[in-house]
Amino acid sequence: MCGIIGAIHMKGNVAPLLRKSLKRLEYRGYDSSGIATAANGVIFIKKDKGKIDEIHQQINFDTLPGSIGIGHTRWATHGPPSKLNAHPHTDCYDRIAVVHNGIIENYQELRQILLEGGHQFRSQTDTEVIPHLIEDALNHTSRLENAVARVLPKLEGSYAIVVLEAKGNELVCARKESPLVIGLGQRGIYCASDVPAFLPMTRKTIVLEDNELVHLTANGALLTRLDENGSPTRLPLRIPTEVQWTIDMAQKGGYPHFMLKEIHEQPTAIRDTLRMKKSDFENFADVLHNHKKVITVAAGTSYHATLAAKYMFSQISNFLVHDVIASEGTDTVASSLGEDTAVLAVTQSGETVDTLHAVKHLKKQGSTVLAITNTVGSSITRMADHVVYTQAGPEIGVAATKTFATQLATLASLSTYLGVLTGAQTIKEKNELLAALNQFPELIEIIIRNQENAIKDASQEYITRSNFFFLGRGISTATALEGALKIKEIAYVHAEGYPAGESKHGPIALVEPGFPIVFVAPNDKTRRHLEGNVMEMKARGAQIISICSAQDTTLINLSDHAISLPPLPSILFSPICYVVPLQLLAYYAAILRGHNPDQPRNLAKAVTVL
Ligand code: AGP
Repeated sequence: MCGIIGAIHMKGNVAPLLRKSLKRLEYRGYDSSGIATAANGVIFIKKDKGKIDEIHQQINFDTLPGSIGIGHTRWATHGPPSKLNAHPHTDCYDRIAVVHNGIIENYQELRQILLEGGHQFRSQTDTEVIPHLIEDALNHTSRLENAVARVLPKLEGSYAIVVLEAKGNELVCARKESPLVIGLGQRGIYCASDVPAFLPMTRKTIVLEDNELVHLTANGALLTRLDENGSPTRLPLRIPTEVQWTIDMAQKGGYPHFMLKEIHEQPTAIRDTLRMKKSDFENFADVLHNHKKVITVAAGTSYHATLAAKYMFSQISNFLVHDVIASEGTDTVASSLGEDTAVLAVTQSGETVDTLHAVKHLKKQGSTVLAITNTVGSSITRMADHVVYTQAGPEIGVAATKTFATQLATLASLSTYLGVLTGAQTIKEKNELLAALNQFPELIEIIIRNQENAIKDASQEYITRSNFFFLGRGISTATALEGALKIKEIAYVHAEGYPAGESKHGPIALVEPGFPIVFVAPNDKTRRHLEGNVMEMKARGAQIISICSAQDTTLINLSDHAISLPPLPSILFSPICYVVPLQLLAYYAAILRGHNPDQPRNLAKAVTVL
């Protein structure tokens, strides 16, 4: 997730406006920034690694000349944060500059073809293929709009782009699966990833749809729809909507909190993550398969993802891993590990000191380190031998939600590749599992759409309770632990996540009439035995809240409150969907109890102390 902006200013230099716009988009990414403007037939660029204010102090963006320009604030996906990888990117002759948000899946093939055609690249980004493709297309047409239209069908993946030409009298922007909004002001015309970019200048917005392209000049905007072959049809410009949001509301996409926005962003985050290169997963699976011992290392929510992975690896790949809580890592198992060990570290920030500390220790002992992280250029990426990135974009809420979803999706995908190597899955079966996994984003959309209000009501009913159990069996133990962590950390409600079968060995002593127990109950192999645990708790007067299949009428009838979910295309990946109601439950419990879920007390987004 990155933030992009394009602007045509009617009077004066556009650079200060672009810089301020980027500042308002920083919640979308902040590891590097850049601005390009055009004046007198020349493109001028300033860009660097770091936050916009820091870079501005060093190189002063505001001196860039010209009344037309583009800007970018980056959340790295391809290539670490650096000056060269920062946007805008240009063609061989610096005649075309492009900013991009999204992922070009086939960039390696395109880059190879362009290299063979004599193009020269300066960055490691996927984006850089775009200006070079436009450069080639301009050999066939003199109009920038037509050149961009020729290029777009070649791009696989997702994009919102803005293109600037040295001539400096027009911008062309387009989108596919990444957001792009047009702003029509009295003193300027704008396009951006999101409304806050231009909100102080105009509230008149037009949201672009997939496969739409807009040609912007000082005289206005022309809208074109492209079919799959890039054939254009000119459309009348839609009537602008007048946005009523404040900047703060706009940054949260109209949601009251980042956490709720991020819960809703999970389908997109998973889709983007599953777009990552197949070869990364194959390589990871290969390394895991070639080691005698494999452990996972992680903290907090990331630990819960690794716990779910333990079940997925076992059931899908017939492969045993040992899950280690990072802060316990060096003291518990380290002495028995060495060169025969692969360490799979999972950390969204890549900066959790417990995880880094454990990994450093194990690396010293000769173990191979694989990392799954959301943050390109983070400390873990410098320690690891191999890295796979989740594509959640920046997560502003302290409580991990969309990053958990993307970790689960990555680990689920990995388990299928590993399954082929161990012989547990045929290629056909692996592909079927991956096809099932690709349906999960849509299911999350359905779950949120159908259940958010019911979950809000449930939190209202249980708001005064000060203790909860979250119980599940098998892989749902991981989901239950995550549900308990979420309600603890943002609603300050004491909750215990526990394996349901184990609850009768002690925790059940706490249960008395009215005690709320959330059962995570997908229709998997554990479901039959779980019913016994439900009955045990009911017999002691507990109130049963179940998260279960809509077809599970038995459990629905046994429950005081049931949140029912649609049938899943593969039950083996159930936490990806079953955690969503628990995130919403925690969120609404926090709100009803008067707490700000984005900034829970005593917590930090990245915990950098041992
Ligand atoms: C999750 O909601 C928490 N904020 C916390 O447990 C977090 O998952 C943990 O600190 C690990 O962070 P990491 O994934 O960045 O390593």
